[in-house]
Amino acid sequence: MYIMLSQKHTGISFTFKLLVVGLLLSVLNANAQPGPGRNELAMQETRDIAAAMLKELSQTLQAAMVDGGAVNAIGVCKTKAPEIAMSLSMKHQVQVSRVGTRARNPDMGVPNEWQTKALAKFESRIAAGDKPYDIEYVEVIKTGAYDLELRYAKPIVLQPMCTACHGSPEQISPEVKGKLAKLYPNDKAVNYKPGELRGAVIVSRLLSH
Ligand code: HEC
Repeated sequence: MYIMLSQKHTGISFTFKLLVVGLLLSVLNANAQPGPGRNELAMQETRDIAAAMLKELSQTLQAAMVDGGAVNAIGVCKTKAPEIAMSLSMKHQVQVSRVGTRARNPDMGVPNEWQTKALAKFESRIAAGDKPYDIEYVEVIKTGAYDLELRYAKPIVLQPMCTACHGSPEQISPEVKGKLAKLYPNDKAVNYKPGELRGAVIVSRLLSH
């Protein structure tokens, strides 16, 4: 303020210069610090990756069901889901996976300790009336002297079309039941109702310190 007053004769241009310098400094400062700004971008990208995983899974499954019914879609679900997760992981240099509240595939679908915690948080928030689509669970964990890992989980909710393979015994055709029994002798992923929490998409990535 003092400077502006004392430089009254060239007031406008000088104030303008001050503004420009101020802006430049704040831009440089933001770029120099790999703090919240950059991590905020990583967070947004992570959200988008989880959303892409959910969208691609749902679309691929729907197309397979229309093409050859639930019996044929089993194979698609088994191979396509890990393929979509892998291609998103490679593309974005992150790790994408999916887990279930009650798993069908004991090798891929069982949640680890952190994922179990995320699913429990989802269950209690849904029970409290929150919409699954609005919920996410995020934690930044120090995994080494210089490493921070961002862990992100987003609910997978059962849709009506999923009941053909995850619903009640009456909703699953004998053919599908037979094939599932052969492929997954310890299948726990049945008796789900539409709207119920079925699992989570998980994205993990390293953040710059
Ligand atoms: C055509 C049958 C079929 C349909 C329809 C289907 N699934 Fe699955 N689902 C499977 C099979 C088979 C697996 C096990 C895949 C594997 O081997 O990893 C599975 C696994 C999963 C898993 C991973 C956890 C686990 O249990 O192993 C999730 C999550 C899941 N399904 C959610 C859904 C959702 C949500 C829908 C509806 C949008 C759906 N599924 C529809 C057959 C199906």
